Amino acid sequence: MENKIIIGNMKMYMNLSEIEYYLKIIKDKVSDNVIFFPSSIYIPYFLKGQYHVGLQNISFFDDGAYTGEISAHQATEMKIQYAMLGHSERRLYFKETDYEVNQKVIKCLNNNLNIIICIGETKEEKLQSLTKEVIKNQLMIALNNVEIQKQKNIIIAYEPRWAIGTNQIPTIFELEDVVDYIKKILKKDFKMNLKVIYGGSVNIDNIAELNRINNIDGFLLGRSCIEPQAFLKIIEVINLKDI
Ligand code: PGA
Repeated sequence: MENKIIIGNMKMYMNLSEIEYYLKIIKDKVSDNVIFFPSSIYIPYFLKGQYHVGLQNISFFDDGAYTGEISAHQATEMKIQYAMLGHSERRLYFKETDYEVNQKVIKCLNNNLNIIICIGETKEEKLQSLTKEVIKNQLMIALNNVEIQKQKNIIIAYEPRWAIGTNQIPTIFELEDVVDYIKKILKKDFKMNLKVIYGGSVNIDNIAELNRINNIDGFLLGRSCIEPQAFLKIIEVINLKDI
């Protein structure tokens, strides 16, 4: 069985000395299926250590007069392999729309950058039983005009917005059901077989149980990747084969 994907989304946490400490602790201990998403200014430190790294956001413009932005082309030139698109914090605080996510998807794929597309419903939407409708809509827009040959470069992260940073997670049944639904849509409407990972309040206490869900291809961690020893423990649990 192939190793699951493990993503550490470091958000805007950590300063330079914490990054240096982090890198010292994880040295020679991280398996090849782990991808780090630190604040972009720290990416060169991770590249130097030969880790897989990604940007937490990317511009939907090509190069040019766009202050504060980083283009997909600049990313690949720097040997960055991944970009995260449509994270719920980008949608919530920076008002990123599905349409913008789609523009970013296209730019990244044209520049051979692998992408993690984040989708997920809000608490209100869940309470109104709109989860499937919402994620279907997000997928239909995000993947609009994406060529099937690019599918190997795309990972979908199912991250219910209400589960991020809250210590609440869906039930095992809900998760299995939604991930199954996502895979069915991808297959039916896009003829794609994509990996689907789960993110939102994953931690050392719930990872063993989450890891037993058959159709989940990996995990996206926020707070739980910030403390290096704890993150290494979680990685170990995820990589355990026969549980
Ligand atoms: P969390 O964040 O693990 O802190 O809930 C998840 C995420 O970044 O999507």
